[in-house]
Order: sequence, then C-alpha cells, then structure tokens
Amino acid sequence: MLIGQITDTHIKADRRLVYTRVDTAAALERCVAEIMRLPQRPDVMLFTGDIGDYGTAQEYALVRQILAPLAMPVYLIPGNHDSREELRASFPDHAYMAQSPKFIQYAIDDYPVRIVALDTAIPKKSAGELCEERLGWLERTLAQAPDKPTILMMHHAPFSTGLSYMDGIGLVNGTERLGSIIDKNPQVERIVCGHLHRTIVRRFHGTVASICTSTAHQSVLDLEPGATPMFKMEPPGFQLHFWTREMGLVTHTVAIGDFDGPYPYFMDGKRLD
Ligand SMILES: [Fe+2]
Ligand SMILES: [Fe+2]
Repeated sequence: MLIGQITDTHIKADRRLVYTRVDTAAALERCVAEIMRLPQRPDVMLFTGDIGDYGTAQEYALVRQILAPLAMPVYLIPGNHDSREELRASFPDHAYMAQSPKFIQYAIDDYPVRIVALDTAIPKKSAGELCEERLGWLERTLAQAPDKPTILMMHHAPFSTGLSYMDGIGLVNGTERLGSIIDKNPQVERIVCGHLHRTIVRRFHGTVASICTSTAHQSVLDLEPGATPMFKMEPPGFQLHFWTREMGLVTHTVAIGDFDGPYPYFMDGKRLD
C-alpha cells in the first residue's frame, strides 16, 4: 500500500499570496503534477490540515479544483487554519467526515493499513488540544482493530521540536494520555503530522511520529530559544509512506520541482567512473 501525505497547503481565495509572498495555489498545483508523474500512484492521499489559510468556502472550492486531477481518495483533517463547518460543507462527498458529528475524526478500514484520523484543532486558535472526548474516541477506535497495522494522522504533533515559536503553538494538553494509549496499541506504526512546515521525526512511546514538509513555505530552521518566527522557500515536498507486510512502513520524502537527472549509475554493466 502506498500512502501519500500532503500538508499545510494554506490556499487563499482568489489565489492571493500568503504573507504577501507565497503563491500557495501554484505550489499545490506543482505538488499535484508531481504526484501524477510518480512511477507508482499512491492508493490514498492523507491531507494533514492547514488546507486553507482562513478556512473559507472560497478557499476550499479552489482546493477542490486543484486536487481534481487526483483520482485516488483523499482524507482530510482540519488544522488551525481550517474550519470544520466549511470543510464539511465544501467536501460533502467525503462521507468519512460524518463518522463524528463534532470533530472531523474517523477510521478508514478499507485498506491493508488502517487509517485513523484525530482532530487536534481548536476553533480560531493556533495551538491544538486533545480533550478527553477526542482521546476517549481514539482509545475506543484503536481497540476495534488491535492487530491491523495503523497509521494515525493529526495536524499538531505530539512532541516539541526545538522550533520555539512553533512549539508555542503546539498541543496544549493530552500528549501524556495519548502516549499511554499508544503504549497499549503497538499496531500504531506511525503518527503522521503537519503544522510545523518542516520534515521532522521523533520517537513517541512505542511508535514513530513524523512531520511532513509543507507543499509551500517551510519554517526557518533556527533552534535558538525565542528565535524570530520566519519562513523560507526551501524545496517544498510531500511524503510517501510505503507499506508491505515484509518491510513494514517506510517513509520517503519527495521534493517537488524539476531537477537535473535522472542519470544511470551504470553503463554496459560497469559503474560509471
Ligand atoms: Fe501550516
Ligand atoms: Fe498549523
């Protein structure tokens, strides 16, 4: 099973630039083109939030339009820049959103890897939370399929990164309880997140938690406490989580863009010198 992940597209209405500078609509178009030219087409795409920049119907209409060439199912969760109500209204054909009336969280059981999505958003706030209601749902949901390899998706990451501004708008609670739920559910192969606008990986209890590159702008890598929050147009990307029973879940980060190559390593059976 090949699971694609895109995150933090921050689409604005009328293709307006984000922070007066970032053409996020063009960035998502390049991402979709990159996905379409992959040698292997992902079976599903996970979209880990900050889909729009203000969470409006116009933004989501543009997202729909740009994602239209993708034929595979796309599973959405809200980030802090999204609106649950507008997401539900704008993606009425995404039936999985109806699994929970309050939060946009759900389980998808149709594939060899089970997908469980957890909603960390707090309306109109940048930080995220994991309240007892959401964690209770997660505990019950994971208990339904304890033997099936599972990927858990959430917008905010359950760990600090050293990027102090971003850490300041991380999860305000619930990570300890999430950890104890993960400890009891070794079938969770991975927690995949967004929000940080960088590729970051950390051990989290009995699993691995990973954060995917944004399709648009990235956070500046400065680990000084109190560093000024800045973004940079480092190469955008997305991730491919490749699962087979033999290999387990392996993640590849794909850079979006036109690069020199490919070139062969070998010619006439000999390594090129
Ligand atoms: Fe974001
Ligand atoms: Fe975010």
